Amino acid sequence: MRTQAIQISDFGGPEVLQAREIELSEPAQGEVRVRQHCVAVNFVDVYHRIGQLHGDGPRPPFVPGVQANGVIEALGEGVIAGELKVGDRVTYANIGIGSYVGHRNLPAERLVKIPDTLSDELVAASYLRGLTAHYLLKRLYKVQPGDHVLIHAAAGGVGQLMVQWAKALGAIVIGTVSNASKAERARSLGCDYPIVYTRENFADAVLKITQGEGVPVVYDSVGRDTFQDSLRCTRPMGMAINYGTASGQVEAFPLQDLHSKSLSVCRPTLRTWIAKQSDLHWASNELFELLSLGGLQIDVAAQLPLQEAAQAHRLIEDRNTAGAIILKP
Ligand SMILES: NC(=O)c1ccc[n+]([C@@H]2O[C@H](COP(=O)([O-])OP(=O)(O)OC[C@H]3O[C@@H](n4cnc5c(N)ncnc54)[C@H](OP(=O)(O)O)[C@@H]3O)[C@@H](O)[C@H]2O)c1
Repeated sequence: MRTQAIQISDFGGPEVLQAREIELSEPAQGEVRVRQHCVAVNFVDVYHRIGQLHGDGPRPPFVPGVQANGVIEALGEGVIAGELKVGDRVTYANIGIGSYVGHRNLPAERLVKIPDTLSDELVAASYLRGLTAHYLLKRLYKVQPGDHVLIHAAAGGVGQLMVQWAKALGAIVIGTVSNASKAERARSLGCDYPIVYTRENFADAVLKITQGEGVPVVYDSVGRDTFQDSLRCTRPMGMAINYGTASGQVEAFPLQDLHSKSLSVCRPTLRTWIAKQSDLHWASNELFELLSLGGLQIDVAAQLPLQEAAQAHRLIEDRNTAGAIILKP
């Protein structure tokens, strides 16, 4: 069969995202074919498009995208009937690149069923981001009640979930944002101290809030523009986590810089934290439970037809959106 797709033929600006039709074979052994209802736009799609490679990034030509959800249309050989069936609503994240398509064949073992209580749109907005918040807050650094935590880009997609989840764990949340309306949104989600980091130095503000001590953990998704100041406001024996590079990759610095405060630095990726199926299901269940109870919200900043993927990339790169962008095949 043929299906719609967005393809990248060269690294470059949003204009390199071109609509095409591609051929899709029947699902192979262990695969199912999914008719996709919602394709998520994640910031990593921008890194892939511009060629900001993290070692093993894709090279053109390729279909971008790391997350989507939809309905199973066909089962390949060897898929255990009963575990997954035609008509099931399923989601996935980080099964290789290629989610900007109408239909896709996917390995059954990496798909997770969506509870009836959750809409396709909510899952598209929150799934990969929520799995990320889960490992960052509950595994990599285990947030304790009373911890001050610093979350950069606190009104962004991951940021919104991080703020609410950290708050639910009992943290005192400090968040950075680029303008006043994002500060308001972060505050309404539970951020105790929103800092507009385009107007004031956030490290100075954090040190003031924590009476000179600094925070035990910084969740830094901005990277190049923020990381040195993130280290400056991390308290002795604290952890500075660089989990995203929206402003570019962190420049190399001497390891010795960590010595005087005994700091830990980490550069993690979700892929490793959900590589085991048991971890994938554990994190998915905890996320779905919280979403079902209304304990986490996320704004859907825009919903666009799949063919308008270029516009979606412009929106996310211009920093004008708060929350998530979804493409509809
Ligand atoms: N390592 C992992 O496991 C993992 C997994 C998922 C996501 N991530 C990372 O998490 C971050 C958030 O992802 P998301 O998809 O939810 O995106 P997003 O937060 O909706 O968008 C990125 C945000 O970064 C901020 N930003 C700061 N400097 C920027 C710049 N120069 N250009 C563009 N934006 C800039 C903007 O917020 P302000 O305007 O408020 O500054 C922007 O809204 C990304 O960095 C992503 O790579 C990492």
